[in-house]
Amino acid sequence: METFQSLLGRKLSDALAKAGLPEAADVTPATDPRFGDYQTNAALVLAKQRGEKPRDVAEKIIAHLKVSDVSEMPTVAGAGFINFTLRAESIAQKALEILADDRLGVARSTSPKKIVIDFGSPNVAKPMHVGHIRSTVLGDALARIAQFLGHEIVRDNHIGDWGTQFGMVIWGWKNLLDRPALERDPIGEIVRIYKETNERSTSDPTVREACRQELVKLQSGDPKNFSIWKQCVELSMQDFERIYGLLDIHYDIQRSESFYNDRLPNVVERLLKSGIAEISEGAVCVFFRDIPELADKPCIIRKRDGGFNYATTDVATVDYRINDLKSDTIWLVVGAPQILHFKQIFAIARREGYTADFRHITFGSILGEDRKLMKTRSGENVPLRDLLDEAVQRARKIIEKKNPDLSETEKIDIAQKIGIGAVKYYDLSQYRMTDYVFSWDRMLSLQGNTAPYLQNAYVRVRSIFRKAGAPAGKIDKLILREVAEINLAKRLCQFAEVVPQVLNDFRPNILANYLFELANSFHAFYEACPVLKSEEPVRASRLALSELTGRVMLRGLDLLGIKVPEKM
Ligand code: ARG
Repeated sequence: METFQSLLGRKLSDALAKAGLPEAADVTPATDPRFGDYQTNAALVLAKQRGEKPRDVAEKIIAHLKVSDVSEMPTVAGAGFINFTLRAESIAQKALEILADDRLGVARSTSPKKIVIDFGSPNVAKPMHVGHIRSTVLGDALARIAQFLGHEIVRDNHIGDWGTQFGMVIWGWKNLLDRPALERDPIGEIVRIYKETNERSTSDPTVREACRQELVKLQSGDPKNFSIWKQCVELSMQDFERIYGLLDIHYDIQRSESFYNDRLPNVVERLLKSGIAEISEGAVCVFFRDIPELADKPCIIRKRDGGFNYATTDVATVDYRINDLKSDTIWLVVGAPQILHFKQIFAIARREGYTADFRHITFGSILGEDRKLMKTRSGENVPLRDLLDEAVQRARKIIEKKNPDLSETEKIDIAQKIGIGAVKYYDLSQYRMTDYVFSWDRMLSLQGNTAPYLQNAYVRVRSIFRKAGAPAGKIDKLILREVAEINLAKRLCQFAEVVPQVLNDFRPNILANYLFELANSFHAFYEACPVLKSEEPVRASRLALSELTGRVMLRGLDLLGIKVPEKM
């Protein structure tokens, strides 16, 4: 099913060809609804190129535009924009088609990719904290959207389960472990021993050396150290799983860093052999002398002591994802501090001849009310599980106030959906690159661009059908007369235009903002147009519009990873 935007775009191309003009610009949604629904600046672009008057060029294009089946007569406004206003009958027709379509009009990609998405990827022996929300929630939404658009997706959790921190964890385990505390709160205790060892090793060189020895023993396969490492990994994984359960996050595979260990010697040998890497001061390095921003930043892939590192693992990870998983596209949803690291990894991959599409998708930080990186009162990172528990508790209070008569099971379920939804949506509704201030009051508000507001719009739709006592019947014509009705139907037709746009620059906030506008359009419709009390055939038509709103809202929120209650 073709969207209005694409249909008008095609008609514009035809008109340009007939007028003997080159392709100049697309049709885009109107920036100001007073002038219409869609616009193009083709005349402006062409006039500039040809030294003609924009209005004359616009008239020439319009003379060849055959759009009367979808749009009123196009108009020229301002400096030479051509504007299109959809005809109510075309909107009604399209909305009816969408109503009959499981995909709500959203086309599958014509060039489906096999995409590995690396997101979340927390580290063992370090708790997941508020900073992990962005990568986890953003990665999950992008995976859902890409999958819906027909791409083949592999969600991979690249857990940091190897590395120098284990020297400290193992030393701490042997010297500082409090067994009962480990039973009570495994992750809390592992983090405590890690931190304490870290502090001791900065002030005491003998501890530092002892930690290094523990690491060497682990890396050379010492059974005792291996078993401690394994316990730490398993305990951390249990903690991650609980959080993923709460967040409803799923991975297809979890190829942790340690998975690549036995591939690392080969990686280094291969890069040395091909001349991509060289030995420099005893270490094996890749230099990027031809890339100005990396010219003085070599990438070490084997340290002087023979150890491999994070970069070596990532080179092996590229191999695995392309050769073993057969992907052609790799998305890494990882914070901005690793920009340089991934530039190096991608440059190495290019030199090795890999042609896959690599994207490092970065994001801004979450700030506390003081506009500094969010921390607890004592200056620690805020553990994610505490934060999510608090979200659910706060949502529960709202429900107790709003709808105290719900049953206990309903309250538990709804509090979870609202609390978790609020945290996710607050993140996804911002442009990913901006820092934002974490605010319970704002994210849980029933007003404004929040999850509870959208969930409430959905609940309102559902309550119409509960009152009606039946689902919307099948209709063969939508009746669009009131402005609010027309606007709502138009909005519903835009869903198919908005969803693919998200992937252009990895911006789920485009979809979030669309859903907010949809909720607003629905509320305006609900105020202006009685549904159940109106006469047939208007009643059936309005029920159908309501149903479609509910379905688009449900699907849209699902693409963002947000669940909706039936009541709240
Ligand atoms: N564990 C890393 C961190 O927390 C993120 C891993 C990202 N993925 C990768 N392939 N390096 O910083």
